[in-house]
Amino acid sequence: MSKFPQNFLWGGATASAQFEGGYAEGHRGKSQLDYIDYIDPIHRNNAHSTDLLTYERFIKNKEQEDSKNFPNRRGSDFYHRYKEDIALLAEMGFKVFRMSISWARIYPTGYEERPNEEGLAFYHQVFQELHKYGIEPLVTIIHYENPVTLTEDLNGWENPKMIDLFVKYAKTVIDEYKDEVTYWLGFNEINACLDNPYVSAGMFVEKSDKNYLSCCHQALHHQFIAQALVTKYLHETAPNCKMGAMIARLECYAQTCDPADEYQTLIEDQINCSFLDIMCRGKYPKTLLNYFRQNEVDIQMVNDYEKILQEGVVDFISISYYMSYVISSKPGQKENPGNLMKTLVNPYLKQSAWGWAIDPLGLRITLNRLYDKYQLPIFIVENGLGARDQLIQNTVNDDYRIDYMREHIKAIAGAIEDGVDVMGYTSWGCIDLVSASMTEMSKRYGFIYVDADDYGKGTYNRYKKASFYWYQHVIATNGEEL
Ligand code: BG6
Repeated sequence: MSKFPQNFLWGGATASAQFEGGYAEGHRGKSQLDYIDYIDPIHRNNAHSTDLLTYERFIKNKEQEDSKNFPNRRGSDFYHRYKEDIALLAEMGFKVFRMSISWARIYPTGYEERPNEEGLAFYHQVFQELHKYGIEPLVTIIHYENPVTLTEDLNGWENPKMIDLFVKYAKTVIDEYKDEVTYWLGFNEINACLDNPYVSAGMFVEKSDKNYLSCCHQALHHQFIAQALVTKYLHETAPNCKMGAMIARLECYAQTCDPADEYQTLIEDQINCSFLDIMCRGKYPKTLLNYFRQNEVDIQMVNDYEKILQEGVVDFISISYYMSYVISSKPGQKENPGNLMKTLVNPYLKQSAWGWAIDPLGLRITLNRLYDKYQLPIFIVENGLGARDQLIQNTVNDDYRIDYMREHIKAIAGAIEDGVDVMGYTSWGCIDLVSASMTEMSKRYGFIYVDADDYGKGTYNRYKKASFYWYQHVIATNGEEL
């Protein structure tokens, strides 16, 4: 007997900046992610290429716009191949497809009075194609991607002017697509701002007068307000639609049972959950306000922020889950440089080729924790294994990916048995796309291989991997046969 409910939403996830391509077509403007250049791994010294994008480098990239390699601009060419891609997803039996809308395709600079009709038409065509096969779109209104003009003029989300500009854009897409899209997410991984302000908030902290934490929490405050205003608008104008909060879930373990380690872990968890507290309960938790006081975080709250947050609480929680973290109260422990947040190495876990700790049971733990705390349905909108795949005789034998996913799906089944209300599962990068942290094609997540390399060489043809057939069977048996 399947542990998964009959209406469980099986599918996969993408983001426009990393997948769509067609950056210069249909009167699209450019986003700040279009200016992250590819850096050869030998010059990266294990760092994420996005971490290396300083303001100085950004200016150089703008000057050398025509000669540098910007993989996000190409994505995986979904713009031209969406029909073929959606047919492949349908063949796998997808019930849902997570994608995002490119803000710069709708409002090229962010300032226009009227939206770009060609951009609006493109997403209508995509949604129509999905519905042709009975696939439900799950739309992220902003997956890291801001018009670059707003980075240049306003330093992105540090500036409160971003709120109105974003709300204008979000209302446009809600009005336009509310009959075609039921499930919406506001900001992708809203907490990512703390780790990568350029990617997540389109801003350079070095250009701000504020210290690092204040600058990030200021931007986050503006994003929370925007998320709440848009959620309220969706509820008022499209009562059948649902809005989700989206965070990168950082499940943390204490390094030892020393209460000091436990306490530090509790604090980390409170910070991670504070993002959900604000979006699900409509207020800043005391723990976060204490943290602000203790860490000299100084931000200006917008007028009526308490009312705005209260009136715009979400309908469900969504998370990305790739790894878990180890926390110690003692400084100077050996760090795991691979994990997205640089915490300690967990000796009980294997790591991916990029050093991400693989922890399926952690997913079951996290689903239980979040459900105990919020009692809201949870959608796992990102999970998967980034790997270096090899195309041999038109396919990839990615048993490693199947193993990873099997164990994570078992963990979800376990959480459902535990009583957690899980709405669906969209594995990350179901068709290979550009890595967000590495800005390269070499780190692949898909069931479908895209024949393109880090330099954009290749046919961009699609090939089914072994995991394609495996996932097709998982969906067909509603998760009973893994
Ligand atoms: C999530 C992001 O953090 O992780 C995605 O929402 C990203 O945009 C994914 O692609 C995987 O990370 P990476 O760096 O391996 O692409």
